[in-house]
Amino acid sequence: MPFTIAIDGPAASGKGTIARAIAQHFGFHHLDTGLLYRATGAKGGDPVEAARALRPIDMERDDLRSAEAGQAASRVAAIPEVREALVDFQRRFAMQEPGAVLDGRDIGTVICPEAALKLYVVASDEVRAARRAAELGADPARMLAELRERDARDSARATAPLRPADDAVLLDTSALSIEDAVARAIAEVARVQAG
Ligand code: C5P
Repeated sequence: MPFTIAIDGPAASGKGTIARAIAQHFGFHHLDTGLLYRATGAKGGDPVEAARALRPIDMERDDLRSAEAGQAASRVAAIPEVREALVDFQRRFAMQEPGAVLDGRDIGTVICPEAALKLYVVASDEVRAARRAAELGADPARMLAELRERDARDSARATAPLRPADDAVLLDTSALSIEDAVARAIAEVARVQAG
């Protein structure tokens, strides 16, 4: 049975960094599921068709990390048929040996409810906005408004809203360095592996 780790949380909480680091540390596969929604939104046209026709090459566009691509992703992500079209790919990815780390919004609640470990990564709005502003070279106040708008839409949608699974371990990275946040996440994985 492959070892699946689900990492969810709001935008810029640190979940992507933690997911990548865990995957590297344990030799697991990693999928940034936000990219699937960003690529779907960026394709334009009918979002349901775009999601159904998504190919790996679509995830390699270099404009997917922008704030605009994040907003477009969050709009298409609220459409149930878009989410449905992306479920099988994510579940197949999660079944790879020796293990897989998936990060997103609904991994622990919908995509991989049987994951061996579920982490829900949070950070204060201000810390998240500052991180995203530094990453994109953008204005922190604009990033704060953008993140809040996106989180509100992601949390309020009817299908697979952003929320922690009942058995998720909460990790608040507001006051943690990247190294400390990663170390705590690795310790959680090791705890579960030790049984
Ligand atoms: O994680 P990232 O910021 O790249 O995600 C972009 C958007 O994609 C999110 O705001 C959310 O609307 C959507 N998303 C989702 N479910 C996931 C991953 C991302 O709805 N598992």
